[in-house]
Amino acid sequence: MKKDILLLPGDGIGPEIIDSAVAILEAIAKKFKHEFTFKQHLIGGAAIDAASTPLPTETIAAAKKVDAVLLGAVGGPKWDQNPSHLRPERGLLAIRKALDLYANLRPVKGFEHLLDASPLKPDIINGSDLLIVRELTGGLYFGEPSQRSKDGQSVVDTLTYTRYEMERIIKKAFESAQLRKQKLTSVDKANVLESSKLWREIVDQQKPFYPDVEVNHMLVDAAAMKLITEPNSFDVIVTENMFGDILSDEASVLTGSLGMLPSASLAENGIGLYEPAHGSAPDIAGQGIANPIAMILSAAMMLRYSFKMDTEASNIEQAVEATINNGYYTADLKVKTGSLVTTKEMTNNILRNI
Ligand code: NAD
Ligand code: IPM
Ligand code: MN
Repeated sequence: MKKDILLLPGDGIGPEIIDSAVAILEAIAKKFKHEFTFKQHLIGGAAIDAASTPLPTETIAAAKKVDAVLLGAVGGPKWDQNPSHLRPERGLLAIRKALDLYANLRPVKGFEHLLDASPLKPDIINGSDLLIVRELTGGLYFGEPSQRSKDGQSVVDTLTYTRYEMERIIKKAFESAQLRKQKLTSVDKANVLESSKLWREIVDQQKPFYPDVEVNHMLVDAAAMKLITEPNSFDVIVTENMFGDILSDEASVLTGSLGMLPSASLAENGIGLYEPAHGSAPDIAGQGIANPIAMILSAAMMLRYSFKMDTEASNIEQAVEATINNGYYTADLKVKTGSLVTTKEMTNNILRNI
């Protein structure tokens, strides 16, 4: 098959890990006789520097023409003092909105060989395998107004959702649960927030349409605790934008590192954007030591969701697991034994297992 892929490396470790994903995809194309073509555009701080905007119109136009988008990460201290509209993160939010990428799927699956890498007890995290379904284009991130008062003495951020926005992500989560272990945990703050009350209502309304799925509601504070004390009690978690952002970084601790967590950002019909859950890691950028696995597994998700290439996606996932089982690890993984490798070496080892 012939597929056009748009690369948005972004900032910090973004370009380093995008290189790894491209190398893996080229190996997959060769092995399975596909033709992948890569185009590259600017987003985030790199785009601010070159074009004075975090999301140039050319980038959006290019994204609408390809079969899928791979994004590295955006942001960094260089732009942290910029006004809101000139922050790299704005570019990421804007592309999610422009492509209507409302469903962010963040699978969290620990590898047995990395049980040691987590600060949590191995018997607690052993076997953990869950999926966070995060709403990605609504809530606090996009509500207006979001500003400081003229005198600087007060601020407002707005949490808005329509029924439609909640319903589509909740349905997506039910469907995801049907394909997994048929267990859905809806996470909200219905004891305080009006938005969460409507959310809960919609979950209960949808429940009868998915009789095979067992559903429970959990308040977000308790969920944060349960996620690391009883991770095996979860299958699919569905939640709004901000809660999903926070819970997914927390959940990465189950895998040993944030550098292990891939994600797929999907629209109802249309293009998918695939991005690691982590950021641009400015503290290690440019050193060639970033963990490329979250990015590589995001590329595997692209093959599975956008290109329906299940065998190819599994090939990548198995190659990653085999490499980990062979004892290779990057500096973010605090394991006791094995071979410490750079980004390039990790990528080359995975390539050998393709
Ligand atoms: P971060 O995810 O960049 O880093 C948090 C910690 O995890 C750091 O110690 C970092 O070194 C480590 N880490 C993350 N990914 C890693 C990898 N692949 N390999 C090894 N170590 C890794 O979060 P932060 O430091 O809070 O944010 C840094 C910048 O990234 C900020 O500008 C933030 O806005 C941005 N950010 C962007 C995205 C995105 O583009 N999707 C996501 C989160 C944060
Ligand atoms: C993520 C990031 C982004 C988010 C930021 C950079 C806007 O943290 O993708 O998880 O909060 O969605
Ligand atoms: Mn985040």
